[in-house]
Amino acid sequence: MQTNPAIHVDGLRQRYGDFEAVAGISFEVAAGELFALLGTNGAGKTTTLEALEGHRAVHEGTVRVLGHDPHRERRKVRPRIGIMLQDGGFFTDLTVAETVDHWRGFTPAARDRDEVIGTVGLADKAAVRVRQLSGGQKRRLDLALALTGRPAVLFLDEPTTGMDPEARHATWKIVRDLVAGGTTVLLTTHYLEEAEHLADHLAILHRGRIETSGTVGEVVAGHGDRISFQVPERLQGADLPGLHGAHAEISLDGGRAIASYTVTDVGLQAGLYELLRWADEKQVSLHGLEARSASLEDVFLRTAAGVTR
Ligand SMILES: Nc1ncnc2c1ncn2[C@@H]1O[C@H](COP(=O)(O)OP(=O)(O)OP(=O)(O)O)[C@@H](O)[C@H]1O
Ligand SMILES: [Mg+2]
Repeated sequence: MQTNPAIHVDGLRQRYGDFEAVAGISFEVAAGELFALLGTNGAGKTTTLEALEGHRAVHEGTVRVLGHDPHRERRKVRPRIGIMLQDGGFFTDLTVAETVDHWRGFTPAARDRDEVIGTVGLADKAAVRVRQLSGGQKRRLDLALALTGRPAVLFLDEPTTGMDPEARHATWKIVRDLVAGGTTVLLTTHYLEEAEHLADHLAILHRGRIETSGTVGEVVAGHGDRISFQVPERLQGADLPGLHGAHAEISLDGGRAIASYTVTDVGLQAGLYELLRWADEKQVSLHGLEARSASLEDVFLRTAAGVTR
């Protein structure tokens, strides 16, 4: 049986004056899954989240959260969602514990204060004033507040920006546990590794449009395999072979010239075979030889450069 999606977005357009920040996007997030919205700065991620959180009326299109219009039916939706804004605002004179208590005052069926603070790893900072927290610690407090009401749907706008790698991994664990417990999560991130780790599905937004979406595997598929190596010393870019029509792109890495090929049509095996035969004939060694599938980062960078395939 098909269950209703937790989040439904159809043809969403949002404008600031004459500027169209979101230019007609559609996606769905199934209940209990994690969906990542990726995209360059200004792509429209926060604007999309604000429409879903009910902060802004929709200019065109439809958005539904748990089956309701989050702006018009705010009272039905708001108690069931948790929000971590990109720039959270706190009363900086309150301590961590007071901040959580203050928030619990607005939250029906709130989680226990110490449990929430412990979950995000701030137990030893409970009595510290918010103004004395580091940037990464403030992000954790933000996450704590978003979790307080046991939300069915959690919106996380760049949750791990400013966190050190250990705190980031700890946050991933918290988020994974929430998803395992049935929470639906929509998050934005600039860390592609974060999306690779967490996302069931993702979309890459560019200038207000979804350029590509699917599982990580689906998004990466069709972007070709990569072969790269250091250009042998006595050779120039022009001396390098074509591999079934794919040409070498030369880039510099620490003063070394690196040749890379994207072998979309021929596949990795045939391209490698040609390369190794060429190297054998020319009697050159290929240092740093690598063969791999395209990564999410490759796809992201191509999308940002306006090359979709
Ligand atoms: N209040 C506003 N008034 C006018 N323009 C805005 C406003 N908020 C956002 N914009 C513009 O809308 C576009 C989308 O902004 P948005 O904040 O949604 O991007 P984003 O994808 O979240 O970017 P980032 O990765 O930097 O957080 C940007 O060009 C931004 O300058
Ligand atoms: Mg943003």
